[in-house]
Amino acid sequence: MKFFIDTANLDQIREAQDLGIMDGVTTNPSLMAKEGINGKENINRHYVEICNIVDGDISAEVISTDYAGMIAEGNQLAALHENIVVKIPMIKDGIKALRYFSDKGIKTNCTLIFSAGQALLAAKAGATYVSPFIGRLDDISLSGVDLISQIRQIYDNYAYETQILAASIRHPMHIIECAEVGADVVTCPLKPILQLLNHPLTDSGLAQFLSDHAGNK
Ligand code: G3P
Repeated sequence: MKFFIDTANLDQIREAQDLGIMDGVTTNPSLMAKEGINGKENINRHYVEICNIVDGDISAEVISTDYAGMIAEGNQLAALHENIVVKIPMIKDGIKALRYFSDKGIKTNCTLIFSAGQALLAAKAGATYVSPFIGRLDDISLSGVDLISQIRQIYDNYAYETQILAASIRHPMHIIECAEVGADVVTCPLKPILQLLNHPLTDSGLAQFLSDHAGNK
């Protein structure tokens, strides 16, 4: 399973990259705004900085919601760096844009996926990734992980190559459950990734080893 970090914060991206386990980065307009990155030039420069830190797929989201706008914006984003993946919203014109970029050999990530039907349409349109938002489904008392399972089954039934990129991950159990049901990628903030490290028996076991070693001197 691939690990992407879901942030536009360069310090967190560097810290995750230093772990040596990162395969890519996802961003969205909200994450850019959270870092105070505004205006097309600054945003584009920020994407290039991210590409220079992590050598993997870097999702950059279009703001346009009409076909022509998404095509123009997506082409500009793709030209920034060879690792840019054009992130397209799950709307009608978005499906057409996914087909356009797929035919052109440009990678895409179809975002704001909340149902199996949406994931099926995105796969038909040739999306490289689909991003089901599992935490936001949990927020409204639906199971985000069940959606990942459902999409996995549909994609396996027809050998769709579109990769399931589980997003809106809130805690380490989300990561583990996504791995159990066969998500191709999880994208999450740094915190749940680091929380995977924790186990009290690791801490007490290490303390004992170090104490025994000190007593043996
Ligand atoms: O990748 C999507 C993610 O950024 C949304 O997360 O926590 O706002 O639902 P959240």
